[in-house]
Amino acid sequence: MNAVEIIIKKRDKLELTSEEIQYFIDGLASKQIPDYQAAAWLMAVMLNGMNERETTDLTMAMANSGEVLDLSHVVPIEVDKHSTGGVGDKTTLVVEPLVAACGLPVGKMSGRGLGFSGGTLDKVETIPGFRTSFSRDEFISLLRDTGLVLAGQSGDLAPADGVLYKLRDVTGTVDSIPLIASSVMSKKIAGGAQAIVLDVKIGVGAFMKNLDDARKLSHLMVSIGKLSGRKVIALLSEMNQPLGCAVGNALEVKEAIDTLHGKGPADFTEHCLHVASHMLVIGEKAKNLDEARALVEKTLNSGKAWQKFRSMVINQGGDVSFVDHPEKMPLAPVIETINAPADGYLKWIDAKEIGETTVDMGAGRKKKEDLIDHAVGVIIHHKVGDKVNKGEDLFTLHASSRESFEMAKTRILKAHEFSDSVCEPLPLFYN
Ligand code: URA
Repeated sequence: MNAVEIIIKKRDKLELTSEEIQYFIDGLASKQIPDYQAAAWLMAVMLNGMNERETTDLTMAMANSGEVLDLSHVVPIEVDKHSTGGVGDKTTLVVEPLVAACGLPVGKMSGRGLGFSGGTLDKVETIPGFRTSFSRDEFISLLRDTGLVLAGQSGDLAPADGVLYKLRDVTGTVDSIPLIASSVMSKKIAGGAQAIVLDVKIGVGAFMKNLDDARKLSHLMVSIGKLSGRKVIALLSEMNQPLGCAVGNALEVKEAIDTLHGKGPADFTEHCLHVASHMLVIGEKAKNLDEARALVEKTLNSGKAWQKFRSMVINQGGDVSFVDHPEKMPLAPVIETINAPADGYLKWIDAKEIGETTVDMGAGRKKKEDLIDHAVGVIIHHKVGDKVNKGEDLFTLHASSRESFEMAKTRILKAHEFSDSVCEPLPLFYN
């Protein structure tokens, strides 16, 4: 068996055996298989797919490529959530402290930006000193002592996903159902989560463009979770327009802080309350969704979720003055607001175009080694369904240069589509 044969087999649309998948993933984790072979294999999987058995084998091989945490002696039940990636999705920053403040411990392994979608790790690194890399023992003691950890892909946990995730980001191999399912579920299994809420995004600003694909991905992840003894539910959420108003790392951290203070955008706040409620139910902290909803609302309004976020920043070595005074976060040199060109109802805001534009402004990576500009991004001032008057604020750009500002202005203006007749707001979740 060798890597080239396995690549050729998938290229030729053949089913890989469990042994071949294990061989390939072992080779990645031990760095015996170089990036160029991994990239070729990813493209073959992207184009030719994998069946459920292959995807389950891939997930388990990736989960077992490093350490698999057993947290059953650390916390009564470890709940977690994971989004499949969207634009303006800073949900983790609000939901994890909110759930932890309700009394359910949360130890989360987050990712970096992928394609046009942002990543929680890139966002939290806006806070100077905030550490996301922990040894197993550090992760466990933080979780046991504080009930909340936001960690990155460490060398020890699902390292094969670490290798593949970085390559997928820059090789056009992100939006594949088996690759997303195995990436998400291997991290959750390795990280020791016992109960998981999956937030599967649908729309132009997500990797699943329609409900059918989103349902397929959800069923696959739920069934992999069950096979590995985890409780898993999947929510289907809207991602045609950005979630909330801010897109870009520092801007999103600020919006999460506003939300924890009860002053976040309505759609984003509602999204967080809904996801958190499901986490409380699956984590057995509430008997049903109504009871859970009452508890998360009370916890958010009391300021306890904010206090929990603040403690997490301190416990993970971050400079808490940056979250107490978010104006200290990096500011882009060019900040300007663009006004609505005409009266009308907002019919469409293309989340993908907004995500791609912010990546081009420097908020994401185009090559593996690219550095992120935390300050840049966009704030949209209206959502689909809003009535907008000519001259009203439409969006504010935070750009690194005049040239980048002009590029983004043209593209984001085009991403807004108006209608003369009334337009319905988009739903937040689908059944
Ligand atoms: N999140 C992940 O962890 N992996 C993916 O492939 C997509 C979203």
